[in-house]
Amino acid sequence: MKIEHNKNLKNFNTFQIAAFCKKYVEIQDTKELLEINYDDNFFVIGEGSNVLLNSQLDTVLHITASKITILEKKSDIVVIRAEAGVIWDNFVKFCVENKFYGAENLSFIPGTVGAAPVQNIGAYGVEVQDIIRDVEFFDIKEQKFRILSAKECKFNYRSSIFKNELKSNAIVTAVTFKLSLKPNFKLNYGGLSKFITEKKLDIDIQNVRNSVIQIRKEKLPDVKKYPNAGSFFKNAIVNEQKICELSAKYNDLPYFKASYGFKIPTAWLIEKAGLKGFATGKAAVSSKHSLILINENNATASDILQLAEIIENKVFEKFGIKIQKEVVII
Ligand code: EPU
Repeated sequence: MKIEHNKNLKNFNTFQIAAFCKKYVEIQDTKELLEINYDDNFFVIGEGSNVLLNSQLDTVLHITASKITILEKKSDIVVIRAEAGVIWDNFVKFCVENKFYGAENLSFIPGTVGAAPVQNIGAYGVEVQDIIRDVEFFDIKEQKFRILSAKECKFNYRSSIFKNELKSNAIVTAVTFKLSLKPNFKLNYGGLSKFITEKKLDIDIQNVRNSVIQIRKEKLPDVKKYPNAGSFFKNAIVNEQKICELSAKYNDLPYFKASYGFKIPTAWLIEKAGLKGFATGKAAVSSKHSLILINENNATASDILQLAEIIENKVFEKFGIKIQKEVVII
């Protein structure tokens, strides 16, 4: 392992918030997790693309172990194990190049393989739970390596056991994926099929990946110019009564039926509340996509949280909906 002291994490979180940790430990081999002192206030960081660093941390662990191994190919299925430190989009690229189907809609999502199951990343009608077979992790209390099947991970919309029961007690070390050797494209979400048709592209795995990347680049603010952590809030989950109430008032209300209720895009709620592009001087709501908060001018975590509170209150006043943060506050 490699240890650094008093490290500024500004370049290790995509919000580019300056935050110091007493000890930064790079874990090259996950067996080294047995040697860490977990009495400290510690946090495991991947690419830092879904966090807001709001506190002083004693120890920050960063796993760099990044092997990808094909475990088996049987009839139409391929099983692949990727270590936690693999950059997520490199894993998707590997799958696309080898024509392993199922991950292509998740192209260009920032983050690491280790972080993917924690919040059950998703985009364009696919969630990572759809392709996970099992998740390996280090159990801090028990001081041993364990494995959970996808079912045992209790995946839900942007959530899993690692965000709930096992929060602060599990460090994901590797994920095993089950992909298909035959195409089974999902193109019905987020304008993907429209994009492919308009551009007159053949429907193949590389074109699906390229299209997702292009759509994301067009829709989302460039993180290098506008430091951000992707969707700051989750989409709102409401019941049918709320949909009836709101659609009587707003005939342009967008909503989707999901297994857990009805989903309303929080971006729409924020825009309709008049906050798209709203800025405090330090932090701002992206004028390109209202679900994204940006660090505009050396913001601190509390500047971002103050802006979040203004948004939460305004959306609640206007729609009676309590929106939830998607980004993890540390
Ligand atoms: N919309 C607005 N104003 C905006 C942007 C969007 O009103 O400025 C409305 C439109 O009605 C649009 C709808 O919101 O149709 C949905 O927008 P979009 O397709 O961009 O998706 P999203 O619901 O905002 C979710 C995920 C994204 C994922 C996309 C694409 C969450 C919290 N976010 O965003 O994931 O890339 O779908 O599938 O579920 C992330 O989690 O960080 C993330 C970027």
